[in-house]
Amino acid sequence: MEEFQYRGGALFCEEVPLADLAERYGTPLYVYSEKSIQDRFRALDEAYASIPHLICYAMKANDNLSIVRLLAGLGAGADIVSGGELFRARQAGVPGSRIIFAGVGKTRAEIAQAIDEDVLLFNVESPAELEAIAAVGKEKGRTARIAVRVNPDVDPQTHPYISTGLKKNKFGIGADHVLEVYRRARDEAFLEPVGIQMHIGSQLVHVQPIVDAVGRVADLVQRLRDEGVALRYFDVGGGLGIRYRDEAPEGPSELAERVLPTIRDLGVTLLCEPGRFIVGNAGALVTRVVYRKDNGAKTFVIVDAAMNDLIRPSLYDAHHEIWSVEWRDEREIVDVVGPICESGDFFAHDRSLPVSGSGDLLAIMSAGAYGFAMASTYNARPRPSEVLVTGCQHRLIRRRETYQDLIRAEEGL
Ligand code: LLP
Repeated sequence: MEEFQYRGGALFCEEVPLADLAERYGTPLYVYSEKSIQDRFRALDEAYASIPHLICYAMKANDNLSIVRLLAGLGAGADIVSGGELFRARQAGVPGSRIIFAGVGKTRAEIAQAIDEDVLLFNVESPAELEAIAAVGKEKGRTARIAVRVNPDVDPQTHPYISTGLKKNKFGIGADHVLEVYRRARDEAFLEPVGIQMHIGSQLVHVQPIVDAVGRVADLVQRLRDEGVALRYFDVGGGLGIRYRDEAPEGPSELAERVLPTIRDLGVTLLCEPGRFIVGNAGALVTRVVYRKDNGAKTFVIVDAAMNDLIRPSLYDAHHEIWSVEWRDEREIVDVVGPICESGDFFAHDRSLPVSGSGDLLAIMSAGAYGFAMASTYNARPRPSEVLVTGCQHRLIRRRETYQDLIRAEEGL
């Protein structure tokens, strides 16, 4: 959250007071720091500088076109998980040659779309999917490049919903079956096995589980080489954690130090798929207090943002710091809640926060990843605007939805 700082009692994003942005664009409002996104991307790029690599930004974290375009301009590729993300990536100017396609349920239509765009590779998650890719490739007379996603069966020590590399998870193919899938790909004319991939989970604050998994996958690369399958890409996935509260996450340099020797020895290009690390701390959700309410047992601060705008607290019980846009010394214990008709619509429970009253602005921090991207229009609430700040400049990168937007897909039916 380096780019969000108090100056003279006012909270700024880079050189712009958040209060000015709330005034200009209204609330709730997502605000992102361009510098923060650039700095995070460069930190990764520098950590891997000593070997050939491509950082494929995981678009699911935040697929705003301006943000993807910014990252593409810095040299990023894209990690996509749907035809819609492929469409957005291409709209944002990411070439197919820098796009990798993941996900356990790619449909034939999506596979065809990705073959048409000549994506760098498909991360294959099951033998059935491999057959589907081969069949679509054959129909089109085009060879598809593939990597197998290995399920290395390591515990990433994170929230169960975002843990993906254990046997009980739906992702990837177990190490025991990986070789036979590659043999099948090697023998199929319309498939070219070029890489191997893993991703064990998200918001990992220690790199050790990733290092363990890389070791297991590296063994497979060697065994495949002995069988005549020479892979060119090793994708270590995403998952690097960020600081939401008081975590001290290990970052790209710690990871690079531990895994680059292995990957360099294999002589392959490193791919990675970071999402949260790049955009998580670059964004805040600015919201205005509508009412205060004291029911005797609790004090509620009711704000104009809700779980439809940022679902992470409701869905994962995730902690997001809440700062007052105007500095206040005095604090009180409150619940911060939204206007939606569910008790699960909250941003904080029993939290010591600066005292705020109706009309005051609050900033819900570290909301750049899986914030807007997971927003919905539940309760017929139009989704908020998004603004990108660069130094003392700011620009709208997504306008607030209107009531008309809410009914557009139903009009005339
Ligand atoms: N690659 C794959 C195959 C993934 O499944 C994911 C995230 C990523 C890369 C990017 O992971 P990251 O670097 O952002 O940790 N909505 C949840 C997070 C879901 C993550 C799903 N997969 C949240 O708000 O915490």
